[in-house]
Amino acid sequence: MFLVFLGAPGAGKGTQAAIISQKLGLAHIASGDLFREAVAKGAELGKTVKAYMDKGVLVPDKVTIQLVSERLNEPDCKSGCIFDGFPRTIEQAKALDEMLASRNAAIDKAVYIKVPQKELLKRLGGRWICRVCQTPYHEITSPPKVPGKCDKCGGKLYQRSDDTEETIKERLRVYFEQTTPLLDYYKAADKLVTVNGELGIEEVAEEIISGLRLKSVEPK
Ligand code: AP5
Repeated sequence: MFLVFLGAPGAGKGTQAAIISQKLGLAHIASGDLFREAVAKGAELGKTVKAYMDKGVLVPDKVTIQLVSERLNEPDCKSGCIFDGFPRTIEQAKALDEMLASRNAAIDKAVYIKVPQKELLKRLGGRWICRVCQTPYHEITSPPKVPGKCDKCGGKLYQRSDDTEETIKERLRVYFEQTTPLLDYYKAADKLVTVNGELGIEEVAEEIISGLRLKSVEPK
């Protein structure tokens, strides 16, 4: 099964992709995490993408498509995966369709996690992430048991450099301008499943699972 998770910055794509990928036994491809890994390694790619990420704008399609395509070639993605944060433009969505078609596969469903803008600002402002396993926490709604430490792996928590007020506003502007057209793209293909992302984390996960089942999507 190949799924796309759509939603604004802070909607809970990463949180839900981690839960659902485990429940369904799928790989999890998060384009933002791939870029942050490249930045942390000091790789040439990291130097290229950092400037875009710091400004809150999209990395060029060509670079993004190439990186995701390489990740998709890894063995854990063979029987399916969740794309988290990719695609973000119509060009990326078309490229993804082509990548999968060449494997005799296709996107089964695009899950849109819908959250109002006011809530997004609160979520991103209080987010902390594990440096090791990338698990996201929130200082109010889902704090770690020990401050500054990941419950799952003990890794150190940090705040993303693009989670500042100014950059969050730019990321939201870019999302509404460049990524929301994807909702119509997947709706036209009869693949869009919309869930209420304002619910608690576990409830959103249940909505996703039941949304997929209701639409008769079964793991391949
Ligand atoms: P990326 O890393 O993808 O960031 P994003 O899309 O801005 O999304 P976030 O990771 O901020 O939010 P999320 O929806 O995953 O929310 P989360 O689960 O963490 O991209 C970063 C940058 O990389 C981009 O700006 C761009 O430059 C570049 N990039 C990445 N992909 C690209 C692409 N395809 N093309 C071009 N450029 C690309 O949750 C947020 C917070 O809310 C957490 O604290 C969490 O604990 C909390 N929370 C989650 N769910 C709930 C809930 N139900 N109730 C209460 N709190 C909740």
